[in-house]
Amino acid sequence: MLLELDLRAIKAIMALVKAKHRYDFENYAMSSIKRRIERIIDLKKIETLDKLLHSLEFDLEFFDYFVREITVNTTEMFRDPAMWVVLNNEVIPNIKIINNLRIWHAGCSTGEEVFSMAILLQEAGLLEKSILYATDLNTNVLASAKKGELTIRNQELNTANYERFKGKGKLADYYTVQDGKMIMNKDLMTNITFKKHDLVLDKSFLKFDLIFCRNVLIYFNMQLQDDVIGKFNDSLFKGGWLILGTKETMAFTKSAKKFNAVSTSERIYQKTAI
Ligand SMILES: C[S@@+](CC[C@H](N)C(=O)[O-])C[C@H]1O[C@@H](n2cnc3c(N)ncnc32)[C@H](O)[C@@H]1O
Repeated sequence: MLLELDLRAIKAIMALVKAKHRYDFENYAMSSIKRRIERIIDLKKIETLDKLLHSLEFDLEFFDYFVREITVNTTEMFRDPAMWVVLNNEVIPNIKIINNLRIWHAGCSTGEEVFSMAILLQEAGLLEKSILYATDLNTNVLASAKKGELTIRNQELNTANYERFKGKGKLADYYTVQDGKMIMNKDLMTNITFKKHDLVLDKSFLKFDLIFCRNVLIYFNMQLQDDVIGKFNDSLFKGGWLILGTKETMAFTKSAKKFNAVSTSERIYQKTAI
């Protein structure tokens, strides 16, 4: 019989992971965490809590696998094309005058979102004066993002998204296909810095004009969402922009009064007060 997961077991797992490996999943949304640990138990045929805790403590390969399973890395280029249209029409004209644009993609996964932004900036003539920081807590996805290699599985979807965004060229202008992967052109990568950053445990590292944090907060409980939005508020210049995923909102957070919703449907907010 396989291990049955109850609240006590989940708490023990999270406490060990935090103490031993400095990853804090305690304030992630419980339902999603439970589902994902149950999947690990099923796939690895784990029978007792002790066995699971032992593997998490001493088997680094297993721990690496655990982090990959807990953090959902699904992504695509120009995800939610309507958001990219609003960004292009409403935000880009306002930031054109800024000399050194600083942009943060928090929870960048394998890089599709930051590469989309690099393409948008290149088409707007702004890439050269921009620095993009792309961060994630999962070092596996960061390693493939750094190489500029994307899964070919999404090639059609990425292309369809770019066409719905109505980009100026063809998506195929920005990559080559090698060994069954999409390899992004080097000139898109020059101004992107990838680094490990944990939104829960690490402080912000700069002030930004634009912060993207899309499809990350949905995995956090309300308290953690509030804390992380607070970090973004501290990390944005006045007049800066925050872009969340279409299922996420900052409306309930303590920082909400400092922002205007530029597009409620596309979850684009502008910071209006310090
Ligand atoms: C579903 S992906 C979203 C990727 C991209 N932003 C998009 O919308 O397509 C969520 C990403 O958040 C990352 N993540 C989860 N918890 C995090 C944390 N505490 N700090 C930084 N990144 C985190 C995951 O590793 C994953 O790559």
